[in-house]
Formats: sequence, C-alpha cells, structure tokens
Amino acid sequence: MLIRQKLEILDSTLREGEQTPGVSFTVKQKITLAKQLDIFGVDFIELGHPAVSPDVYEGVEALNDLSLNAKKMAHGRASKSDINDVVAIGVEWMGIFFGTSPLSLKHKFNVTKSEALKRIQFAVEYGKDKGLKLRFTAEDASRTELDYLIQVGQLVQNSGVDRFSLADTVGCLTPTKTKILVSRLVAELDIPVHVHCHNDFGMATANALSALEAGAQCVDVAVNGLGERCGLPPLAEIVVALTNLYKINGKWDLGMIPELTKMVDSFTKLDSNVNQPIVGKNAFTHKAGLHVKAVVIEPKSYEAISPESLKRKRHFVIDKFTGKSALKNRLNHLGISVSPKELDCLLIEIKFHPDKLNWDDNELISLTKSQEIKL
Ligand code: COA
Ligand code: ZN
Repeated sequence: MLIRQKLEILDSTLREGEQTPGVSFTVKQKITLAKQLDIFGVDFIELGHPAVSPDVYEGVEALNDLSLNAKKMAHGRASKSDINDVVAIGVEWMGIFFGTSPLSLKHKFNVTKSEALKRIQFAVEYGKDKGLKLRFTAEDASRTELDYLIQVGQLVQNSGVDRFSLADTVGCLTPTKTKILVSRLVAELDIPVHVHCHNDFGMATANALSALEAGAQCVDVAVNGLGERCGLPPLAEIVVALTNLYKINGKWDLGMIPELTKMVDSFTKLDSNVNQPIVGKNAFTHKAGLHVKAVVIEPKSYEAISPESLKRKRHFVIDKFTGKSALKNRLNHLGISVSPKELDCLLIEIKFHPDKLNWDDNELISLTKSQEIKL
C-alpha cells in the first residue's frame, strides 16, 4: 500500500531518548542536537517534559528559544501544573499523555473509564484555553479496548485537540495489528493520527511503517533508537526505509545520518550495535568471498541501500571466509600483482589462520613478502 506523501517525523531523542538508562544530556548537547535534527529535516522535535527536573526545564526553555523550522513540542501529563509549565515557557505545541488501558486506569490512576474521560477532557480544554496546540497521546493505546480508545479519540477531538497519538507503550503490537488499529482510528477521526511505537519485540520500525501505510500522518523516532527499555524506531531506519522501500521523496538530508549517530553516541557514551541497520559498523562491510566477488562487479548484488547515499563507505574484510576475487581486489588496491598460483598460496595461508579476524594492509603486504621468499 502507498504511504501518503504528507507524512511527518517527530524526533523524540531529546525527550524519550533521555529516558534511556544511562543517559542524561546537557542543555548544550540538546541545543547542538536540536539544530542538527532541524537541518536534517524532521517535522517535530520533542523538547522534554519540564516537570522532570530543573535541568530538563531549563533545556526546554533553551530549546524553545532556538529558531527552528521544526515544530517544537513539550511533553507533559494531563495535569494543570504540567500544562502551566509549558504555557509559562511558551512552547507552541504540547504533547499531553494519559494512560487509557484497563491496567493504567486501575493501577496508575484508580479511576473508572468515565472519570478518566472527565480528567482528559478537563486537561485538554484547559490546555486549549491557554492557547496551546495539542497532541493527545493515549498511553498504552495498544492494550486499550478499541471502543473506549475511539471514545477517547472523539472526546479529545471534540475538545479541540489538534493531533491524536496512539502509543504502543510496551511494544506489543505486530505490523498487522498496527494496521488494523490505525486504519480504524484514521477512519473514526478527522484530526491527524500519530503513532509512538516501542521496540520490546524488535518490531518498532515495522510497526511504525505499517502505521504509516494505514494512514497515520506522523511517527515518533529517536536517533539510534534511544528510549525507555528497548527504545523507539531509529530515525535512520525509518527515513531510509521510507526513501528506499516506499520511494518517498522526503526532504531529509540522509548524508547527515552517520554524523547524527556519532554525535548521539558521543553524548550517550553508548555504542550503537555493530550490526545495526544503516548506522552499524558492519552495515556496509562484506566478508564472504562470494559476496565480495559479486559486490566488486555490482554492489547492488548484496546491498539494498547504497553506502554513498549516506556518505558511508563500503568495506571488505579479509579473513578465512575470503575468496580469490576479494583477495586479488585488495592486493590490486595495494598495488601488488600476483600470479594465480601466488594468489592460491596466499589464500591458503589466510585460510589456515582462523584466529586472524581481519587482515589489514600491512599484514597482507608482509604475508605477500613472506610468500615470495617461499616461492
Ligand atoms: N496525567 C495526569 N496525571 C498523571 C499522569 C498523567 N499521564 N501520570 C501520572 N499522573 C499523576 C499521578 O496520578 C500522580 O498524581 P497524584 O499526585 O495526584 O497522586 C502524579 O502524577 C505523580 O505522582 P508522584 O508520586 O508525585 O510522581 P513522581 O514522584 O514520580 O513525579 C515526575 C512525577 C513526572 C516528575 C517523575 O516521575 C519524573 O521525573 N518522570 C520522568 C518522566 C516520565 O515519567 N515520563 C513518562 C513518559 S511516558
Ligand atoms: Zn515511549
């Protein structure tokens, strides 16, 4: 199914991303990152939840003072005090959340469904009276009874909310379930629908894309997939999938992805996984001899995404999985030409060294020299 071209990306690195265990950004880091995200081309930037701590409050103030193209959104509970904070700081958009599942109603709030509706309506009307643009998030929407969720959506819409967001708070949706849920809410509401997916089952990216296929207008992402527990869909995965698989002509500067990843890694001191799609160290590194042979002739043979489009480089590993073509290609790059017999001998030597994980250029030059002596 086609995704509507008018889609939006909300980056939550500075809000949910800071909920990653082990992470606390300085205000300065937040400013640097917000500016980069804006240049990259996200549509919304979540600035933080002012009630969390003095430094988060200060961060929201400082970020709100930046001149950005992206819409700025602060986060907060469906409470007067959180709304007052956002109004006092002067942020244009506020994302108000309230848990709507039976678990939330019983264990977080101890309220009945109708009491919850009253609280939600009061908060939304209060926020609208104060002139805020509002996104209302049904927290734990994926475990909320559908009829009640629709009732909540219609209530907030009628109370003046600008966007309705479905949060898969514990990441328990599948792409199929996401499509059914989002299609229904899109059909029932007139305001744009957002989705906030979590990666607890490793399906955040798939679910977010499925939501867009079903008509959602905006998906939440975070650089490097940061966020509570297993995080949110990584920004890189979403925009590169939209560009390459869905042929969406976004205004995103894909070449900035490596530097965004590196910047966030340096702020969080958490390394992205080596085999993470798009940004991982191995994403464009080929090892098996048969793969390298084909990639040298036509990179598309083993690459769904071109590293050049992301300002990344392709690498070939030389180890016991290497084949003749891969080795010859590397030696050619080093200006070394060898006969077929010499190539075989070198390869045998490499295959007899399973302990060597990646022969570097100097090691290959030494190996070639030692073989010359033997031959
Ligand atoms: N909407 C309205 N009220 C909510 C709410 C929501 N979505 N979620 C919780 N609350 C209320 C609770 O009912 C409780 O109300 P009460 O004081 O009348 O009982 C109150 O918020 C929280 O109680 P408290 O025990 O004071 O919470 P706390 O010490 O944990 O402080 C924070 C609250 C938000 C300052 C603190 O938890 C924090 O810094 N959290 C980080 C941000 C966060 O949790 N974000 C979740 C993102 S989904
Ligand atoms: Zn979340």
